[in-house]
Amino acid sequence: MANNTLTITDNRTGKKYDVPIEEGGVIRAMDLRQIKTGADDFGLMTYDPSFGNTASCRSRVTYIDGDKGILRYRGYPIEELAEKSNYLETAYLIVKGELPDQAHYDRWKHNITIHTMVHENIKMFMEGFRYDSHPMGMLLSTVGALSTFYPDASAIHDLESRRLQTRRLIGKIPTLAAFAFRHTRGLPYVYPDNDLSYTGNLLAMLFKMTELTYKPNPVLERALDVLFILHADHEQNCSTNAMRAVGSSQPDPYACASAAISALYGPLHGGANEAAIRMLMEIGSVSAIPALIKKVKEGERRLMGFGHRVYKNYDPRAKILKHFAEQVFEVTGRNPLIDIAVELERIALQDDYFISHKLYPNVDFYSGIIYQAMGFPMTMFPVLFAIPRTSGWMAQWAEMVRDPEQKIARPRQVYIGESTRHYTPIQSRPKPTQHEDAVSEAI
Ligand code: SDX
Repeated sequence: MANNTLTITDNRTGKKYDVPIEEGGVIRAMDLRQIKTGADDFGLMTYDPSFGNTASCRSRVTYIDGDKGILRYRGYPIEELAEKSNYLETAYLIVKGELPDQAHYDRWKHNITIHTMVHENIKMFMEGFRYDSHPMGMLLSTVGALSTFYPDASAIHDLESRRLQTRRLIGKIPTLAAFAFRHTRGLPYVYPDNDLSYTGNLLAMLFKMTELTYKPNPVLERALDVLFILHADHEQNCSTNAMRAVGSSQPDPYACASAAISALYGPLHGGANEAAIRMLMEIGSVSAIPALIKKVKEGERRLMGFGHRVYKNYDPRAKILKHFAEQVFEVTGRNPLIDIAVELERIALQDDYFISHKLYPNVDFYSGIIYQAMGFPMTMFPVLFAIPRTSGWMAQWAEMVRDPEQKIARPRQVYIGESTRHYTPIQSRPKPTQHEDAVSEAI
């Protein structure tokens, strides 16, 4: 018997099945369909409601070892990229698979910079939003709207079209983000300044006022660059899964990216950096930490910025941000919330509940403290997550489009509803109270 197989005995029939164990220690769910009790039996399915133990794809983009706290983009450790690279170079690595030489880097930078402008009609979209709209709602809407400006993007099997849309979206998403922010502030839009760096241009579009030329603070420009490197990709997270799942029915990538931004918006995902800072502000002082920890342990609330589906150790990105914060504070002034965060982390990491649940700070625990110190409003924090993750989403989408094993994502289900029943005249139906119970349970 071959070593790389799993022998399954179906005790219902006494039959044995040898199922191949493939590279990466996986078995194919479809190999279980042969396990039946009879000719009419559909065969065995796997049930994994949030994909806790299901690989949806094979990918070369990002590697995470959750137990060891390892994160690598295309094999390069995140610590080295954060220290030595910049976001655009890292985006090239994630999208293309290799670090660029100088000529390719210069061309990549040029090709993205020339796509920073957006169609003037986008401003009319922005005007349609209320002044107090959440910028993530505006971003997911306007990124989706790009689909109507670039019909050529539907040619998803054309390599040059995929490359062009990738450059367009990485180039334009900072502009859309900045326009959304300026709209909420009632400020005029600031057009891109293509003489500035990627993050310098974003800072200018966000914060330029009456000065003729905006001069970004180099420390803050670099800080944003490092934050963007850390947020660029993270294998099959919820928003990347959305990008791939929507992409599997083959719409254009702008429609997919709008779905990805929608997934990132949630407080359990990219919205956690906003939720974490609100939690720290609510705690207000170190003395109030024990009361919060008590509520968390009683299940009344979650410690936002803590925990991770994959990391059962310290998120390496959080480690980098915790130390990086001090560099930013030298320019911005110290954000007092860092003291609450550090003490909260210290207490939590000594508490059996967090130790037993393997809950450590994740990327969102410290990022919000830095963003707040840099002068960003809390509602912009998830937007600052979406901007760099665009390179990861586009790389993962392109990988999905090219993958011969990928087809339209269409999961099965375990049906637990009613068996066949027949239509009855309205006069003879159950009273609304019974009916409402049935409806509320279904919802
Ligand atoms: C990101 O997937 C990615 O890679 C995401 C991301 C990326 O770069 O794309 O890394 C970015 O989204 C980071 C995560 C940001 N979210 C938060 O900080 C929100 C708070 N964290 C949690 O809601 C939670 O930890 C998740 C959503 C991140 C992970 O949830 P899981 O893996 O589904 O775990 P779970 O909800 O099943 O919880 C397992 C147990 C539960 O306790 P029991 O019911 O088993 O007793 O751990 C507890 C949970 O109650 N738990 C927490 C907790 N997270 C999990 N308890 C308190 N505080 C928390 N933060």
